[in-house]
Amino acid sequence: MDSSGPEKREHWGSKLGFILAAAGSAVGLGNIWKFPYITYENGGGAFVLLYLVCILCVGFPIMIAEFVLGKVSEKDAVGTFGVFRPDKKIFKFIGIIGVFTGFIILSYYSVVAGWTLEYTLKSLTCNEFIVEKVDYNSPELKKAIFNKHGVYDAAAKADILKNAGFTDDKTEENWKAFLDSNDTAHAAARLSIFDEVIQKAKTDLGEQKFEESALMISRQQKASEVFTNHLAKGTPMLLWHAVFMLLTGLIVFGGISGGIEKASRILMPLLFLLLGGLMIYSLTLSGGTEAIKFLFNADFAKLNRHSILEALGHAFFTLSLGMGAMITYGSYLKKEDGVVSSAITVSILDTLIALMACLTLYPILFTFNTEVSGGAGLLFITLPALLANTIGGSIILSIFFVLVAFAALSSTISLLEVVVTYTDDEFGWKRHTSTIVNSFVIFLVGVPSALCFGGNKFFTELTLLSKGDTKLNWFDSFDYLASNWLLPIGGLLIALFIGWMIKDQAKTNQIKEELGSGFYPVWNFLIKFVAPICVAVVIANKIGLIE
Ligand code: PFF
Repeated sequence: MDSSGPEKREHWGSKLGFILAAAGSAVGLGNIWKFPYITYENGGGAFVLLYLVCILCVGFPIMIAEFVLGKVSEKDAVGTFGVFRPDKKIFKFIGIIGVFTGFIILSYYSVVAGWTLEYTLKSLTCNEFIVEKVDYNSPELKKAIFNKHGVYDAAAKADILKNAGFTDDKTEENWKAFLDSNDTAHAAARLSIFDEVIQKAKTDLGEQKFEESALMISRQQKASEVFTNHLAKGTPMLLWHAVFMLLTGLIVFGGISGGIEKASRILMPLLFLLLGGLMIYSLTLSGGTEAIKFLFNADFAKLNRHSILEALGHAFFTLSLGMGAMITYGSYLKKEDGVVSSAITVSILDTLIALMACLTLYPILFTFNTEVSGGAGLLFITLPALLANTIGGSIILSIFFVLVAFAALSSTISLLEVVVTYTDDEFGWKRHTSTIVNSFVIFLVGVPSALCFGGNKFFTELTLLSKGDTKLNWFDSFDYLASNWLLPIGGLLIALFIGWMIKDQAKTNQIKEELGSGFYPVWNFLIKFVAPICVAVVIANKIGLIE
């Protein structure tokens, strides 16, 4: 089926174009949404250092491996393994896992990317997010104030549960059940302790501070309501997903230099400028200094064993490694364009943008003294809640969502390109056919991801996988499968393949020549031992083989 054919392979127009495209693939939701949030959770500076070590010792050598596999073979993510080991077709399976992973990731990544488009429009007016007056009678508000200010020790909790007639058994679960329950039998008891805490908070904080705090909570609740309603609307969710797949498809349709490179040359500098501008604005806020200290002061006491695993896992996702995206992009390199300098630049740009995203978000959070909420909440709830109600906030918010959309788009084109290059190279399809067919099929596979948050009853109730005791819907199952399993496994296999499985001396010499005789031994050590051992430890830990 292989159709290398007489057709000449397309190339990037310039090395800079290639670097911008590869950096575009790396920079995405992982940098602007996930990195700030996991860094915050892991205590700041020390985690950043740890993450840098992972990028340097694992991410960087694997990125070079992917570039070099692509460049030398001039083949897609599957075909490349056939070029290096024509005698053992089984190795092509590593590439097949990669293409499958790209397919899966794109189907749900495009859904989230679509949200950023809708949120850009919402931010232009910000109407929906604005809360000027607090409704102190709202039970949700009372509960939220209680959660923030009501600190009880175990004995006090037990007394409350008993006096309310809820239970004599004072476990933490019962305490949560008491607070969360909507039963009418204990509603009065619950509201009365909420009121008691509110009175106490008023006295402790002073009237003005208390009101500010209540206003902030109301705004977060409002933004959270807007987000829930947004997720539950089936048709707009599908529409934005379709729009994003269409934009992605249009760019890939234009080919390597005429589509992807051209788009990256516009998207990446704009993204950098917009983020730089926002970062400077953020750093002038009162929380700016605290944000800088938080990000660059290394307090190792805040790290734990999980931090290491988290840093390593994220290094993969953020650099787009483990699924052949960089093999695919590398396969369009010209002979004279070096891979090592490109990998250095891409890794630095990716890290820089992740740090800039932190320096944009943290000052805002510290200025308003707000806890960072995890997951989608940081971008789609906390930020609108904080910014929409400030002067000029709507402009800042709109720019922010535009830049997240840019970052996502430069990543989705690389995901689609993996699949398109595969069907082109392996089955001889024309780029235009590949792009249309693959975009459409990926859109269809993403439909349940768009509808599983309330948009459609069947998909909302459907669960595929489970993580511990939690059953995961379609979207979460795909995300969990891809980022927790498929990418690290793919990365491990790629490292083992290039480190141990290439027997052809001519090919090894080609790799040596690409990397230079001084750097080759260093890289060889990292790729043979350091990277596979680190990734294997992460996987073993996930399976529960090691604690
Ligand atoms: N690197 C992207 C991010 O940080 O958002 C995600 C990604 C893109 C992963 C492309 C894998 C990929 F092939």
